[in-house]
Amino acid sequence: MGRWCFGGFLNISLVVLLLLVSRSNVVYVAAFPAEDLVVSLPGQPKVAFRQYAGYVDVDVKNGRSLFYYFVEAEVEPHEKPLTLWLNGGPGCSSVGGGAFTELGPFYPRGDGRGLRRNSMSWNKASNLLFVESPAGVGWSYSNTTSDYNCGDASTARDMHVFMMNWYEKFPEFKSRELFLTGESYAGHYIPQLADVLLDHNAHSKGFKFNIKGVAIGNPLLRLDQDVPAIYEFFWSHGMISDEIGLTIMSDCDFDDYVSGTSHNMTNSCIEAITEANKIVGDYINNYDVILDVCYPTIVEQELRLRKMVYIMFFSHCFDAILLLNLCNLQ
Ligand SMILES: *[C@@H]1O[C@H](CO)[C@@H](O)[C@H](O)[C@H]1NC(C)=O
Ligand SMILES: *[C@@H]1O[C@H](CO)[C@@H](O)[C@H](O)[C@H]1NC(C)=O
Repeated sequence: MGRWCFGGFLNISLVVLLLLVSRSNVVYVAAFPAEDLVVSLPGQPKVAFRQYAGYVDVDVKNGRSLFYYFVEAEVEPHEKPLTLWLNGGPGCSSVGGGAFTELGPFYPRGDGRGLRRNSMSWNKASNLLFVESPAGVGWSYSNTTSDYNCGDASTARDMHVFMMNWYEKFPEFKSRELFLTGESYAGHYIPQLADVLLDHNAHSKGFKFNIKGVAIGNPLLRLDQDVPAIYEFFWSHGMISDEIGLTIMSDCDFDDYVSGTSHNMTNSCIEAITEANKIVGDYINNYDVILDVCYPTIVEQELRLRKMVYIMFFSHCFDAILLLNLCNLQ
C-alpha cells in the first residue's frame, strides 16, 4: 500500500538535479536521487529548499522498506548538520506527526486545502530527515507479515541499515554532523539507535557515523519511573492537594508499570489518580504547566487551553506542537 499512497500524494520528477556548491575554490557536485525529488506538495507555498521522499530497503530478502521524507535546510544546506527525527508511539508516523504538525517546514492550512509555512521549522538550523519506523508505521512496510512482530532492538538494527543505505542515496551527508532526535516513545528509539551507531563506529575500520548529539523530548524512558514522576511533579508544584499526592505515593505501587497495560492497582490508588487527572486535566496543560502565564487575559487563556485540549484529544503524537506553540509566544 505504501507506494500507492505515495504516488497519489507526491509529485515525482525525473529531472536530474545537481547541487553545485562552491566553498573557497573547491567545487562539490552532489547528485541526490532524482526519482525521490518532491517537486511540490499539493497546495504548497513556493520555497527555495528542496525536498525528497521515497523508500530505502532495509531487508531485500523479506522485502522490508522504510519511507523517508528529507528536507534541506532553508539556507546553506551544505553547511548545516543532518538531524534525524523519529516520532514515538510506538506506531506514530514521523511524516504525519513530526514533519507536518511539529518541526517540519509546512503545516496543513486551517481549511485543510493546502499547506502553510511553519515559521519555527527546524530546517532553519539543520537538514531534516523524517523516517517512518519501524516497518508497519506510516508508509513503511514489509512484504513478510511476520516482520510486523518487532521490538526496540530490531527497530534500531533496521534504522542502522536504513542510515547506511540512505547515505548511498545522499553521499554528501556521510561525513556531515549527525543529530538523533525524537519524542515520546523515541525515548527508547533514539538512545538505542545511538548505541547501535556508536557500536558500529567502535568496530568499523572504514565509515563512521559523525554523531554529534541526541535530543529526546518528553521521552518515555521507564514507565515505572516516568508515571510516579508525573504525580510527584503535580504534587510538588501545588497542582494537586497533599491528600491526593500522599495517597498516590503511599497506595500506588508503580513497579508493575513496565508496559502500558494491566496494572495491579488498589482502589484507593485508582481513585487518587483519577482525581489528580481530573483536577489537572481541566485547566492545565500536562506538558507545560506554566503555559498560562504567557496569556494576557484569563479569557484568552481559557480559549487557548480549550483549543489545546481539542488538539490533545484528536492527536496521539502532539507533544512538540505544544512546545512550539509556547516558543511562538515568547
Ligand atoms: C514488495 O512487493 C511488491 C510487490 O511484489 C514489490 O513491488 C516491492 O518492490 C516489494 N518491496 C520490497 C522492499 O522488496
Ligand atoms: C495485586 O496486588 C495485591 C496486593 O498487593 C496482591 O495480593 C495480588 O497478588 C496482586 N495480583 C497480581 C495479579 O499481581
